Amino acid sequence: MTDLTELTAPTDLPEPVSFPQDRTCPYHPPAGYDPLRAARPLTRVTLYDGRTAWLVTGHAAARALLADQRLSTDRSRPDFPVTNERFAAVRNRKVALLGENDPQHRTKRRMMIPAFTVKRATAMRPDIQRIVDELLDAMIAQGPTADLVSAFALPVPSMVICALLGVPYADHEFFEAQSRRLLRGPKAEDSQDARDQLEAYLGELIDRKQQSLGEGVLDDLVREQLNEGALDREELISLAIILLVAGHETTANMISLGTYTLLLHPERLAELRDDPGLLPDAVEELMRSLSIVDGLMRQALEDIDVDGTTIRAGEGVIFSAAVINRDEDVYTAPDTLDWHRPTRHHVSFGFGIHQCLGQNLARAELEIALHSLFDRLPTLSLAVPAEEIPFKPGDTIQGMLELPVTW
Ligand code: HEM
Repeated sequence: MTDLTELTAPTDLPEPVSFPQDRTCPYHPPAGYDPLRAARPLTRVTLYDGRTAWLVTGHAAARALLADQRLSTDRSRPDFPVTNERFAAVRNRKVALLGENDPQHRTKRRMMIPAFTVKRATAMRPDIQRIVDELLDAMIAQGPTADLVSAFALPVPSMVICALLGVPYADHEFFEAQSRRLLRGPKAEDSQDARDQLEAYLGELIDRKQQSLGEGVLDDLVREQLNEGALDREELISLAIILLVAGHETTANMISLGTYTLLLHPERLAELRDDPGLLPDAVEELMRSLSIVDGLMRQALEDIDVDGTTIRAGEGVIFSAAVINRDEDVYTAPDTLDWHRPTRHHVSFGFGIHQCLGQNLARAELEIALHSLFDRLPTLSLAVPAEEIPFKPGDTIQGMLELPVTW
């Protein structure tokens, strides 16, 4: 437990506010973060369990600290700061890549890089387009209306990860159903059971691939790492699971919240319809302003000085992307959705050694999904008033729980 009085805080820091908080509007940071937005580059917050931690709020400090190897992502360390009970419950489970520091992290990351180049993401575009088209065909055939989250936003990334890993099409319904249970419960036991089933399935799939290799990322990893003795079967399974977990709910929430945000900004949407060439910039601006992964967690391994304030060894450090991505020193009128501004340096994919491995793929998915959705359904609109649509609580990846749409 970190005692507040031990923190070497300058006297002008505001009283700690609680973090995370629920958003008041799904595409803006919670109103309760206003004091945090004024306190850059570093302030302090109270976590759900009463502990205090540093919160990084300034853009330059965030990029410096995310690239600083004196901050650890090893969740099993004592006093590692966690932002909700679900994280606390699984903190002793080893998490490949995301929960590893160098040099272990570097070794695994290098193995994964060939699978996630821009070239590979570009090569996957026809597969992504096919997946998106088929899901839209099915949704249109059954509608109007539809819940865009279950009919489109969740299955797109799940099916893309299937294609990426080389999960046979015949197994995709099982894979997708278990992925959804893993990420969306409804109960903790469901998630655990789904994880066990996916691990067993992936283990069998790896065994089958050892007999007959194909084209997917899993096939490459079997060929180049498992068969060469650089990874064992358990490590390979845990890498496959991390790809699924890291790439599914994140992309799904960007599709659902991105669609909702565009529908509530009709003038911006009209601009995109007139000039689809703006789409890559629009995706980047949506990534910045929606900041769906808000609250990356780290722990200091040594004392670190940040503009005259010392983060002491052992203290927790949280990054609020929603605040960092709206730093007024970097973005003019940060609360306005505007893809004509330079927006690339947002931290929504993280930064430093853990920067999102799947970002090229995620960008391709978002561009294709949003473009096809609004192209195929030019009259798409919300099926109920915006304020009645449920969105996710602040301690999760931000997004819509449901998105009833009509056309
Ligand atoms: C819009 C969708 C996505 C968002 C917002 C997102 C966000 C992030 C963020 C913020 C991190 C850094 C975590 C940290 O520093 O602690 C990260 C890491 C990671 N992401 Fe993504 N991600 C997305 C899509 C994907 C996809 C599609 C994949 C793969 C299929 C993926 C795979 C990963 C992996 C493997 C890591 C860990 C990298 C490492 O530790 O070296 N992500 N992602």
